[in-house]
Amino acid sequence: MTYPDPKSRSAQLYARASKIMAGGSTRLTTWQSPYPIYAVSGSGCRIKDADGVERVDFLNNYMTLIHGHAHPEIVAAVQAQAARGMSFAMPTESEILLAETLCSRVKSFDRIRFCNSGSEAVMVAIKAARAHNGRPMIAKCEGAYHGMFDPVEVSHDANPESWGEIDSPARTPYTRGLPESVMRDVIVIPHNDVVRARRLIELHADQLAAVLVDPLPPRVGFIPATAEYLKMVRDLCTKHDIVMISDEVASFRIDYHGPQHVHGFEADLTTMGKIIGGGMPVGAIAGKREFMTVFDPTRGRPLASHGGTFNANPMTMAAGYAAMKMMTPEAFSRLAVLGQRLAEGLRAAFRAANMEGQVTGAGSLWKIHMNNRQFTDYRSVHAMPPEKAKLATLYTHLLNAGYVMGPTGLLALSTAMGEGDVDGFCNAVHDGLMAIRRADGQAA
Ligand SMILES: Cc1ncc(COP(=O)(O)O)c(C=O)c1O
Repeated sequence: MTYPDPKSRSAQLYARASKIMAGGSTRLTTWQSPYPIYAVSGSGCRIKDADGVERVDFLNNYMTLIHGHAHPEIVAAVQAQAARGMSFAMPTESEILLAETLCSRVKSFDRIRFCNSGSEAVMVAIKAARAHNGRPMIAKCEGAYHGMFDPVEVSHDANPESWGEIDSPARTPYTRGLPESVMRDVIVIPHNDVVRARRLIELHADQLAAVLVDPLPPRVGFIPATAEYLKMVRDLCTKHDIVMISDEVASFRIDYHGPQHVHGFEADLTTMGKIIGGGMPVGAIAGKREFMTVFDPTRGRPLASHGGTFNANPMTMAAGYAAMKMMTPEAFSRLAVLGQRLAEGLRAAFRAANMEGQVTGAGSLWKIHMNNRQFTDYRSVHAMPPEKAKLATLYTHLLNAGYVMGPTGLLALSTAMGEGDVDGFCNAVHDGLMAIRRADGQAA
């Protein structure tokens, strides 16, 4: 079956969904035109759709499923917990197990608390920062995605028509209705531009609760934050009592000790999600004791409130603990080697097809770009309409060749994959690039 096919079961399911959901969907990132492909099951690195088509999954629920689908140990942990009860208005030992596991791996994690998504983790971290120093503003990098929460949506999708001067990037709303009052409390800084970002942070230092960084930001094309940039942010935060928040909802995937170990810095607060829940909904905020005490209820009402019916629910904790226990240093190393093989294979595919393109990323997180620009910041990485069109063609070609990647070229490996899966994907990309060339009338 070739995608799209109006007679497919996925198309029929979407028609049904469209009668009861706005746009037929309940998650922006899984919607696609003319219809999303409906999943039925997944096993290891493969995912089966409603029409029985099986594909190798290089998206892994947007970087979440580090062991692929239905890993037997995670399934067993979830089944055992379900039989004991799914959630209680009491804590369980399972949250201590996952907390101990994560805190033992990262130097800046003295304390940790759980929530239910990465967006929530960022929201709670910002609340903690505001409670810590009593200030209203946050600084965030242009183009960086930190979840579905008003202040961090500012400028996450900035474009050339509205992003303004690089010396002082405009605050652009992602959607209509983002209040001016929210926008005013956000300073947009350029990723990796030490001089301009320093100037902007210093200008607002006495009003800033937090500076948000991501050492490997997915929507800023996985351009790693430079050591110089992270040091500048770290030093300014320390000097002005601003809370440095490192959003590692995605980038926590790159190393056993997390990206702070790789990049050589210590954040005050760190947000996580995705892999640490083993496939279940999850978020977490961890950090140094003096910043996490704002949540401490033992001496009266805490400075920052943090409740949540499903926080640290034992289903998520059981799945997360099973998943993270299996992510030994060796497992991270094996994934990183596989990641290098993927990056090299894709670069070879671009060379062989004689097409402009490049691959960025680290560890098990990678991204395909359809240009050869020198990447420095969000503006340089921002895909132009012809590049987006080529990526869309490649995406559909890959679907029909039996592979799933993110529509923006996003790739996330899983431990369920082997070299054959990676090599097969690179070959399929090569064929897709050749098809694009032929369509462009460029083929020899
Ligand atoms: C860096 C980063 N922060 C936050 C989020 C939001 O996480 P969630 O989708 O779990 O709310 C994401 C999601 O992709 C992310 O990549």
